Amino acid sequence: MNGNQGFYVQDGYLYCAGLSVKEIQRQVEHSPFYLYSASQMRQNYRSYENALDQIPAVISYAVKANSNLTILKILRDLGSWVTVVSGNELRLALAAGFESKQMILNGNGKTLHELEYAIDVGVMINIDSEFDVKHLHQISQSIRKSVNVLLRLNPDIDPAVHPYISTGLQGSKFGIQPQQVEPFLQNLDAAPLLNLVGIHSHLGSTIENVDVFCQVSAVMAEYFVMMRERGFPVKYINIGGGLGIDYQRTRPGFAQPEDVVKAIQRELLDDAILILEPGRSLVGNAGVLVCNVIGVKLGETKNFIVVDGSMTELIRPSLYQAEHQIAFIEPVVGPVCESADFLGKNRLLATPDERIGLVVYDTGAYGYVMSSNYNGRMRPPEYLVDDGQLIQIRRAERFEDYLSLFDM
Ligand SMILES: Cc1ncc(COP(=O)(O)O)c(C=O)c1O
Repeated sequence: MNGNQGFYVQDGYLYCAGLSVKEIQRQVEHSPFYLYSASQMRQNYRSYENALDQIPAVISYAVKANSNLTILKILRDLGSWVTVVSGNELRLALAAGFESKQMILNGNGKTLHELEYAIDVGVMINIDSEFDVKHLHQISQSIRKSVNVLLRLNPDIDPAVHPYISTGLQGSKFGIQPQQVEPFLQNLDAAPLLNLVGIHSHLGSTIENVDVFCQVSAVMAEYFVMMRERGFPVKYINIGGGLGIDYQRTRPGFAQPEDVVKAIQRELLDDAILILEPGRSLVGNAGVLVCNVIGVKLGETKNFIVVDGSMTELIRPSLYQAEHQIAFIEPVVGPVCESADFLGKNRLLATPDERIGLVVYDTGAYGYVMSSNYNGRMRPPEYLVDDGQLIQIRRAERFEDYLSLFDM
């Protein structure tokens, strides 16, 4: 395990950065809840930072992975930039104290309002389509403000991940296909307020084979040189995010940030500034969803451990067939019970008593942010352990919050 930075088991009890999760659960008095370790996030960030030590580079946290304001502030304090995908994520990043020059607006369907706001604030914007160029040109002219843009390219490289999170293949809705690049450059030539400052790509998420980062860097380096030769003053090569995490928690050789950086370095140009946009690998293993056992339902071929957490709080298992490790927060003895419904399937776990705590590991990324009100459930609270202290970093959503959205 990772020392006392993150989540680890000691004498059969689960700990979060030095605090017993059972004790935390007692204090929280709400179930389920998300629990994060600040020191684990810092360690993850520093792994990237150390690997990038000798390279002109920027780490730009992908806010979509976890947009809790306190977590954004932790990353801001570490020196991170942010990649946002909506006007509201941009507002959040501003609220967290990021400066406009530390932000990149990305996205496939940026609205006119979002673009106007982003130009006004002065953030860098990814161009993903012909209509992006048209809209940016129109808005920049009308408010008489120039904007720095990156061209998002589709390098047609297979990252070998779940099709829902694969974004860099031909046929994907993201990015500009190689044969379309030339007309884009002509359009940018004719738009004096759009400053092309770099190129961007993102292959997908949960990538395990880092060779694809080497392949994409080679393609990007070629485009970079070509654009310089065409007279565009490009300086950034943004390789996106996408590094996976070891959800099985059993694979010692699992790719780490330094492996990604080594793969990119083989193809990197000396005069380009590298941007990396990790989301999952910065916050994923720094969070768990803490639930309580409601009861055990006996089945013909398997039993069901029914807990108070569900796909409403964590949709990854249902949406992507994602397998998160599941464990009790204290020693549980008893006959083995197969399955924990439906946050995990076909697991061998001991049969627990009611109200025993159970965690779903590695839910710091794409956990809370993808939660909903499905089945009339209110979103759970979020807690953080930082420097030995337990802090509530978002209160539980209340039924009154929900009701207040209706005209009564
Ligand atoms: C453009 C871009 N950058 C970065 C990310 C973050 O990816 P990950 O969380 O897998 O690192 C995403 C995720 O979809 C993305 O679309």
